[in-house]
Amino acid sequence: MKITIVGAGNVGASCASLLAQKNIVEEIVLLDIKEKISEGKSLDISQMLSVINSNTKVIGITNDYLKSKNSEIIIVTCGITRKPGMSRDDLVKINAEIIRSVIKESIFFSPKTKLIVVSNPLDIMTYVSYITAKIDSSRIIGMAGILDTARYRFFLSKKLNISPIDIQSLLLGGHGDTMVPLYRYTSVSGIPIKEFLSEEENDVIIEKTKKGGEEIVNLLGTSAWMAPSASVVQMVEGILKDSKRIFSCSAFLKGEYGFKDICLGVPVILGKNGIEKIVELQLNQEENQILKKSANYVKNMIKKL
Ligand code: NAI
Ligand code: 2OP
Repeated sequence: MKITIVGAGNVGASCASLLAQKNIVEEIVLLDIKEKISEGKSLDISQMLSVINSNTKVIGITNDYLKSKNSEIIIVTCGITRKPGMSRDDLVKINAEIIRSVIKESIFFSPKTKLIVVSNPLDIMTYVSYITAKIDSSRIIGMAGILDTARYRFFLSKKLNISPIDIQSLLLGGHGDTMVPLYRYTSVSGIPIKEFLSEEENDVIIEKTKKGGEEIVNLLGTSAWMAPSASVVQMVEGILKDSKRIFSCSAFLKGEYGFKDICLGVPVILGKNGIEKIVELQLNQEENQILKKSANYVKNMIKKL
């Protein structure tokens, strides 16, 4: 089984490394437009294989999509990242052009593939991928919700002094300042979060979560890649193992939650076919309102583009 990762930068290379460590695929093709980068990084990862007990073949390629032929999953991590002072949305035009050409090549050689989109602004790039690929929307999945909930779970775990593993949560909406972490659907080992902290205290954590990506950009001068790549690998595992786990992912909506012709973060069941089902929650009025605001924001960006 083959997985291709387009973009051998921070996120792409880190995905390749984590996937190789899992030893769950036969071959990883790491592809970049810039010469030598994917060759160099794949060689480095390959030289780790004997130490990590992995048989995964890792191949680095400069822009030759023939080598990606018949990939089970293609992970799209190419494009530019934000620098301090930039929002994810400042990347929209340049990254949309990159994504269009990358998706055309990818689908040509792997018409049956599932696409995991990572490039920002995430919901817009997932939408551009859907429009360009012209494949069933169940096979196009944007990664953001797992990362955003991971940040939320981490900040909650610090506040409560409880393991982040035991904190479960769901998140709706776009990947950005309008994201909608759901207090009502957050729990610690099944115990509702309201038993641990008030809604006001939770709001402070949500604000911190919304700024989670920016905090890292300000510290590093570029965006995060460790938690993002771990989130991608969780999606890959969910698909390859047909695990039917529920994750928040960006999906093309056809009326779910009252929205159409938009990609937005929603809970989905992931399995061997990609998105097996979009899970619809009965939101209250306040949650609906915040989600609408987030959807309008994403919709406007799509219109502008
Ligand atoms: P990076 O700059 O380290 O790597 C990007 C790579 O894409 C570079 O190696 C570049 O040469 C390559 N590239 C550019 N155009 C290409 C093309 N046409 N074909 C193939 N490769 C091409 O960036 P990083 O940190 O890996 O981030 C990548 C993208 O992912 C950015 O748009 C970033 O904002 C986004 N991101 C999204 C996250 C999410 O939660 N959805 C989390 C982290 C990053
Ligand atoms: C993040 O949230 C850059 O979108 C990416 O870290």
